[in-house]
Amino acid sequence: MKIAVLKERRAHEKRVAATPETVKKFMNAGASVVIEKGAGETASISDSAYEEAGASMAADAAAACADADVILKVQRPLHGEEGDELSAMKKGALLVAIMNPHGDEAIAAACAQAGVTAFAMEFMPRITRAQSMDVLSSQSNLAGYKSVLDAAEYYARAFPMMMTAAGTIAPARVFVMGVGVAGLQAIATAKRLGAIVSATDVRAATAEQVESLGGKFIMVEQDDDEGGETAGGYAKEMSEDYKRRQAVLVAETIARQDIVITTALIPGRPAPRLISEEMVASMKPGSVIVDLAVEQGGNCAGSKAGEVVVTDNGVTIIGHYNVASRLAADASSLYARNLFNFLSPFIDEESGDLNIDWEDEVITGTALTRDGKIIHPLLTGKS
Ligand code: NAI
Repeated sequence: MKIAVLKERRAHEKRVAATPETVKKFMNAGASVVIEKGAGETASISDSAYEEAGASMAADAAAACADADVILKVQRPLHGEEGDELSAMKKGALLVAIMNPHGDEAIAAACAQAGVTAFAMEFMPRITRAQSMDVLSSQSNLAGYKSVLDAAEYYARAFPMMMTAAGTIAPARVFVMGVGVAGLQAIATAKRLGAIVSATDVRAATAEQVESLGGKFIMVEQDDDEGGETAGGYAKEMSEDYKRRQAVLVAETIARQDIVITTALIPGRPAPRLISEEMVASMKPGSVIVDLAVEQGGNCAGSKAGEVVVTDNGVTIIGHYNVASRLAADASSLYARNLFNFLSPFIDEESGDLNIDWEDEVITGTALTRDGKIIHPLLTGKS
């Protein structure tokens, strides 16, 4: 089996889908690995580090893809008017990446047409066995950490309380909205920096997690006894009454905060709008909001993808693209391990070939296309 690793071509992407560590692991499992020249450069991995791990180098994507059975990427390939990364891949090749089929409705059809079998890593089912393959978790954790550092960069005050000869500095008040993987890491990071932290989520189960990190949990009464979550552990869309009560509580809380980090997402839907213009207007000058959901439509009114906006009342709203990629080295190392953990159970020990079990939940959950057809139930309307 030959595995190709391509250089990422989409904007704001610095990660790479394999590291010298995972190259070694794939080679030990009997595969050969070819890396497109310069693929690791933006994640601080040199070509020679890959070569030392045993990979061969290809001058460009076409050379890397030629007769590759598996192609590893971070972002979905360029297709249509954006460019063409698909036609270099051979028919029947497996492509493993973050495919974004909800955001890019043409990607699955483009892969099917190219005869490429594409797997969307972000569709990984949330089962215990798949935790080590979960790219949303590995990347959100880093994004949550970085969001607090990004806030600190723009906040013109300190985070911890400081008692100095010249007087006392008050600690920063940080409010985290959405306590999933990113939110929990944001709470932990803000606490480590010495802030007073509170947090909210629609999922009742998060209260204990917030408190165990030393944060204060803020939440309205639930509508029903389902705890605000689906069987898969994701947030549900809440009722209009719930949203109204949540907005009142958030409005009261936000006016007292220095920093707000929003991370709330609902899979397959636009991000819920949690902070209105009036709420932003109620904040003190110098306050900072980081909207980690900005690329899914944003949790905060006025946030703009790729921009740092300062409002009339002096509130900074940060909407960086692809926050995990801002920690490209660590993000790549965890992402690459996720891909190895996903593929390695299907590598035949004797031959080193890939033997996909098409009944396995991690395969049925992530496979978008096969044999020139779109097969994922979320895309064929059979779910
Ligand atoms: P996510 O990225 O989809 O959403 C982030 C957070 O926003 C979630 O906690 C969600 O409840 C919250 N949220 C959504 N709408 C909201 C609203 N209107 N107001 C306030 N908060 C709102 O979620 P993420 O981080 O991917 O994790 C969700 C859960 O899945 C977590 O409990 C996590 O522990 C669990 N998980 C399980 C895994 C496994 O078993 N393999 C792997 C990763 C996570």
